[in-house]
Amino acid sequence: MLVLVLFKVTSLFLQFIIFTGDVTFSQVVNEVMRQLEGAYALIFKSPHYPNELIACKRGSTLILGVNELSGQKSGKSFNDVKALTANGKPKELFFSSDLCAIVEHTKNYLAIEDNEIVHIKDGSVSILKFDHDKEKPASVQRALSVLEMEVEQIKKGNYDHFMQKEIHEQPHSLTTTMRGRLKDGAVLLGGLKEHLKTIRRSRRVVFIGCGTSYNAALAARTFVEELTGIPVTMEVASDLLDRQGPIYREDTAVFVSQSGETADTLLALDYALENGALCVGITNTVGSTLSRRTHCGIHINAGCEIGVASTKAYTSQIVVMAMMALAIGSDQISTQARREAIISGLFSLPSNASQVLKLDSEMKELASSLIDSESLLVFGRGYNYATALEGALKVKEVALMHSEGMFAGEMKHGPLALVDENLPIIVIATRDACFSKQQSVIQQLLSRKGRLIIMCSKGDASAVNPGGSCRVIEVPKVADCLQPVINIIPLQLLAYHLTVLRGFDVDQPRNLAKSVTTQ
Ligand SMILES: *[C@@H]1O[C@H](CO)[C@@H](O)[C@H](O)[C@H]1NC(C)=O
Repeated sequence: MLVLVLFKVTSLFLQFIIFTGDVTFSQVVNEVMRQLEGAYALIFKSPHYPNELIACKRGSTLILGVNELSGQKSGKSFNDVKALTANGKPKELFFSSDLCAIVEHTKNYLAIEDNEIVHIKDGSVSILKFDHDKEKPASVQRALSVLEMEVEQIKKGNYDHFMQKEIHEQPHSLTTTMRGRLKDGAVLLGGLKEHLKTIRRSRRVVFIGCGTSYNAALAARTFVEELTGIPVTMEVASDLLDRQGPIYREDTAVFVSQSGETADTLLALDYALENGALCVGITNTVGSTLSRRTHCGIHINAGCEIGVASTKAYTSQIVVMAMMALAIGSDQISTQARREAIISGLFSLPSNASQVLKLDSEMKELASSLIDSESLLVFGRGYNYATALEGALKVKEVALMHSEGMFAGEMKHGPLALVDENLPIIVIATRDACFSKQQSVIQQLLSRKGRLIIMCSKGDASAVNPGGSCRVIEVPKVADCLQPVINIIPLQLLAYHLTVLRGFDVDQPRNLAKSVTTQ
């Protein structure tokens, strides 16, 4: 038999492996693994090997779910860890890059480790270990783990979509994020405790992330600088790698990724580790590559997020970074009163989130007035520049409408030319040190007949909109640095309703995946 395996090594080169004689499917895969570089999780099927399937991985996540081992009924939870023997005949097998995806089918799973090859043949499973120096992979024994997650957590309940459920879950997810971490006016972060001294001595903090996680870090930047006195720089993971930007031993690099498997972020982590920086991970996924490979870190504990567009993970990420800033800055006397005010603000954040969720029907109505717009601009500044970026990202990724978040301070340097009576513009003008500047931005936009939607603090409607000509969204006022957590919620609701009204898929937006495990 002759087997020809053809695969792309880079976009330029094609690689051939030619086998002659009798080869098994696992030998073919073994040879492919020998040639591959970088991170991957792959599943192979071939008409030459009917009833066989092989999966393998390196770097990326791959989960094998196993349902109904012989004699066991599905749905029953296993108290002991069962051994998955080479000849065991489980009834159903699932492969997934994310635990959340298999929980509704089974709670028994195996996290495939790097260089392991799972070979399924005629219903039986064997696990082999790839070794670069050996021609044949050796067989290994692995035990199944039991997932400690309720199926309820991944059910939609009374909601139509996961994104909707997750938006409305935020009072709860914010509570679980803070649970056990705020005590007697102090912040306790077990995962960071041993490293606080090193972080305080670092020359700068570098936040590294992609997409929503980047935006969350951006929202945190101002208060991290304020409470720690350490300069903070922002890096989009892929751009840091493209530039090979400088990272030093004296840096604290903070990696933010809700899945903990984001390929770009993990590559940036390797790069920062090579350069000797202290690496801190902030992720929603216990046991993820990010949490294993960083020196220390904080889990955001927001619960499983299934909608592709991140919502509750975003707000929890900001809260985690607020707690991180409080912990790092806890040795500074001068900011003591400020820290106490923020901690008390954190306590009332979940109930404020419940308040702002009452805007749901108002946001639906606003969405119905925007369905035919081609574009939506969002202006923010200070703490809420990140809110503008994140709000626009939500509208882009789920409602498939062009949207851009912009610095309000940059308006006169270009974007003002776009303003007319048709283009809807959201201006975030909640109370903080930038409020009067935002008031004058509103005046300038109105004098160009801009079609404005103004987000302001409760009771400020007439201050931001004296002529009464604009639509106003009033949100509860919280500590200024926590305001982004509240302000994003109406924009999440808006993006959600806009998507539903425009008839697009909310939980599976076109072309996007939940964990971006490719570069
Ligand atoms: C919202 O937060 C503010 C400031 O922390 C607090 O005074 C207020 O009581 C909170 N509102 C609710 C409904 O919890």
